[in-house]
Amino acid sequence: MISYQELAAKERPLAVIGLGYVGLPLAVALSEHFEVIGFDISAERIAELSAGRDRTREVTAEELARAWVRYTADPAELKKAGLIIVAVPTPIDHHRNPDLTPVVGSSRTVGQNISAGTIVCYESTVYPGLTEDVCGPIIEKHSGLACGRDFFLGYSPERINPGDRQHTLSTIVKVVAGQTEAVRDLLAKVYGLVVTAGIHLAGSIRVAEAAKVIENTQRDLNIALMNELAVIFDRMNIDTQEVLAAAGTKWNFLPFRPGLVGGHCIGVDPYYLTWKAEELGYMPQVILAGRRINDSMGKFIAEKCIKLLVKNDCHMARSRVGVLGLTFKENVPDLRNTRVIDIVRELAEYCPEVLIHDPLADPEEARREYGLTLSPLEALRDLDALVLAVPHAAYAALTPAELTGWFRPGAAPVVLDVKGILDPAAMTRAGCIFWRL
Ligand SMILES: NC(=O)c1ccc[n+]([C@@H]2O[C@H](COP(=O)([O-])OP(=O)(O)OC[C@H]3O[C@@H](n4cnc5c(N)ncnc54)[C@H](O)[C@@H]3O)[C@@H](O)[C@H]2O)c1
Repeated sequence: MISYQELAAKERPLAVIGLGYVGLPLAVALSEHFEVIGFDISAERIAELSAGRDRTREVTAEELARAWVRYTADPAELKKAGLIIVAVPTPIDHHRNPDLTPVVGSSRTVGQNISAGTIVCYESTVYPGLTEDVCGPIIEKHSGLACGRDFFLGYSPERINPGDRQHTLSTIVKVVAGQTEAVRDLLAKVYGLVVTAGIHLAGSIRVAEAAKVIENTQRDLNIALMNELAVIFDRMNIDTQEVLAAAGTKWNFLPFRPGLVGGHCIGVDPYYLTWKAEELGYMPQVILAGRRINDSMGKFIAEKCIKLLVKNDCHMARSRVGVLGLTFKENVPDLRNTRVIDIVRELAEYCPEVLIHDPLADPEEARREYGLTLSPLEALRDLDALVLAVPHAAYAALTPAELTGWFRPGAAPVVLDVKGILDPAAMTRAGCIFWRL
């Protein structure tokens, strides 16, 4: 097996496969200590990074310029690597089953290019068992090498939170597991150089895989409970945020908030666990119930908007609704699996004009992925309703007076605030019909 000294002395490089939100910051951080090859299947991504630009905004232009990462789309480069870290996406398909195409594809690439003695460490979020039961055999098949003898597996889940500058690679405890103790210890040493928060040694790869997938499942379920409460309290005309502020004064009441659950982690990872559970003959009930509730929130918010418009005597056939924010969460440009689309699609069933603005989303991607044309902020005028869907920092400075100026004269402005960032009293004083989740 490769030794730590070989990596540290730069006799053998380390490779990161998949240079996205997870892989790129990792490659950049590790390049301070090791010779790093950054491999991605996307030639476009390689060209962009070679030109010093990261569209995910996880790494600044200065950090990219400083980092010594050799970006390549040539898999043959992997032959030199003594440690290969895989950080490819783990999405779900249209049936909400795990789509293993990237994990399987990257494992095949590793198998075709791996040298003896190499450690392959997966960072992608998977169900327990995938690394050893699926990835290892693929590498064996394509390399002719034996797993556990000629090459070795490791697993270390990524726990970053996109757009969060506080919880980063270096400040989150890293869970590390290996096929053998020696593999785990080597990985712990490597990661220990870039993670100042510390390393947690997991007893097995399966434990580390399970730990990662339940972190997001727990979060998904807690948000689902808040969403269900919000739906119930809405029927009671009780403001959920006020209830949560009051309940939150108890020391052990957890500070979760209702909201849309999108993106490619929290709304996706639980399906990896439930898929595996079903394969083993157990039908998860609580986890899938939470998923259903969270997936229904966009429709709920849109229906609420329509009810408020109708109550406000709005002529629906000529209604104009503005939506602020399209990305899956605030302050990131990531449009993947955004649940704002559920609000937009439901609204579009009733309102002929739904205008969407997002200061961070790529207009071309919005068109390609969702068939939506983004509008400039100035186009959100003569509105009947406004849905503040994603509280990007750029929207924080909007005042009630400014917002009410965007509405059609004559009727009271209908404003829906999904994340509860506006001041309800100020909005009501400004003459709005105001609702928040
Ligand atoms: N983004 C996050 O905040 C986050 C947090 C924790 C864990 N994760 C997990 O980390 C993994 C990676 O997520 P991400 O957000 O970085 O994904 P991403 O989509 O941002 O990036 C993945 C990169 O992998 C490349 N890729 C795809 N298939 C490939 C292949 N066969 N060979 C080489 N490269 C390939 C893509 O071109 C892309 O550049 C996923 O399993 C995800 O669940 C993500």
